[in-house]
Amino acid sequence: MDSRISARALSAALGGWRTKEPVYEALADGIRLLCLDNRLAPRTALPAERELAGALAASRSTVAAAYRSLRDSGHISSLRGSGSVTLPLGRHDLGRAAAADGTIDLQQASPPAWPGLAGVMGDVAQSASTLVARVGYDVLGRIELREAIARHYERRGIPTRPDEVLVTTGAQSAIHLVASVLLGRGDRVLVETPTYPHAVDALRRAGSRPVGVPVTTEDGWDLDRAEQAFARTLPVMAYLMPDFHNPTGRSMTPEERDLFLLAGERAGSVLVLDETTSELDIDRGAVAPGFATAEPGTVVRVGSMGKTVWGGLRVGWVRAEGDLIRRLVAARPAQDLGTPEFEQAVVTRLLDDLDGILAQRSSLLRSGRDALVSALAEHLPEWRVPAVNGGVSLWIELNAPLSSAVVIDVRSRGVLLSAGPRFSVEGGHERHLRVPFTAPPEELVRAVRELAQSWRSVRAGAPATAVDRVGAVV
Ligand SMILES: Cc1ncc(COP(=O)(O)O)c(C=O)c1O
Repeated sequence: MDSRISARALSAALGGWRTKEPVYEALADGIRLLCLDNRLAPRTALPAERELAGALAASRSTVAAAYRSLRDSGHISSLRGSGSVTLPLGRHDLGRAAAADGTIDLQQASPPAWPGLAGVMGDVAQSASTLVARVGYDVLGRIELREAIARHYERRGIPTRPDEVLVTTGAQSAIHLVASVLLGRGDRVLVETPTYPHAVDALRRAGSRPVGVPVTTEDGWDLDRAEQAFARTLPVMAYLMPDFHNPTGRSMTPEERDLFLLAGERAGSVLVLDETTSELDIDRGAVAPGFATAEPGTVVRVGSMGKTVWGGLRVGWVRAEGDLIRRLVAARPAQDLGTPEFEQAVVTRLLDDLDGILAQRSSLLRSGRDALVSALAEHLPEWRVPAVNGGVSLWIELNAPLSSAVVIDVRSRGVLLSAGPRFSVEGGHERHLRVPFTAPPEELVRAVRELAQSWRSVRAGAPATAVDRVGAVV
């Protein structure tokens, strides 16, 4: 069955779309960006022109002209009597296909593979005959790896038994599995905003309703809003990134950790801590992981080798009390039947030497961050760039709510980015842009030069209301 989007939902997803003249092109661009971000999947029926015009407080002729422009660019098709439907992206839209021709893809914050990885894979391949002698279907994960993960937590001051660990195919599948077991239709889930969007996708798929708690680069977690949200909505779960939060790069202070723990315990919520980025320290120095004193059952940790070693490994895990691990094992076969043996063997080898790997990551991320920060200072001094000491990206504050517009424009200059609203939970963030610093420094510098060109052209074309309306888009 094809899906449809209501006029209200489309209007909310479009946010502050009136970013240029003519207005119908601004609307068409807004819808194009939703298609590019996959927030509007192919074959989604768009609202009738009259309904969308009503929801957007725009004229029907503006919507009709926007739909015409989208038809001309191959993003939608319209059939008399059955409305307009989004089409699969064309070749010109697909960043991956274009990457070979010098396109810089900054939509994902994925560091290159740790340089020693190919060698370790080669070593593990030597024992391929032992590996293939195994059954190969293992929903829990191989014991050697679960022991290595348990040791990894022990070293961080979190005593862990192997039966408290379930190996998954990356953190994303861990989040999806935990959400599908803990959440039911209509349950509330507290999430940071901005946040990691695919986690929210998984939480929504499980039927839950996310409640956003703001995190800012300047002030961190909004503790008042967090306390209120816990007390008012009694969320079943809170999904949090306490260290090097993606995308802001912030880490919780001890006070922030204590508040979440206390408020979560009072509300009876499970805190799901996504630690995928928590060890990507550049210059903060070691700190003891928080939440170590949580009551059993109140904290679930999700980990991954995706950012520390390589996204292509697809190995992650859940650390939780034994009862929940057993529930996850029972539910998992509907999703997948285990993690590949070869990759599990590789990760088992890597985990006990993780400190050396993290040192290499730290220097790689430092050179990316420093190159990006200095290029921004030179070419876009009007943007507010936060100081971050780890993580994968800068969450930059623009001096006008034109994030979607600049992302669309810079795409035509060969730089692919995701606009601020992609990371928001309840709409907004048109004043923010996430720029990962995981790419090579020379690419980052080139991307910033293009961004500066785009910014000038987008600002020049924006109606005064979009540029000057302070605070209209949060
Ligand atoms: C915060 C966060 N959680 C989870 C994931 C997904 O991790 P994996 O590649 O292990 O599935 C990512 C990847 O971008 C991430 O940034």
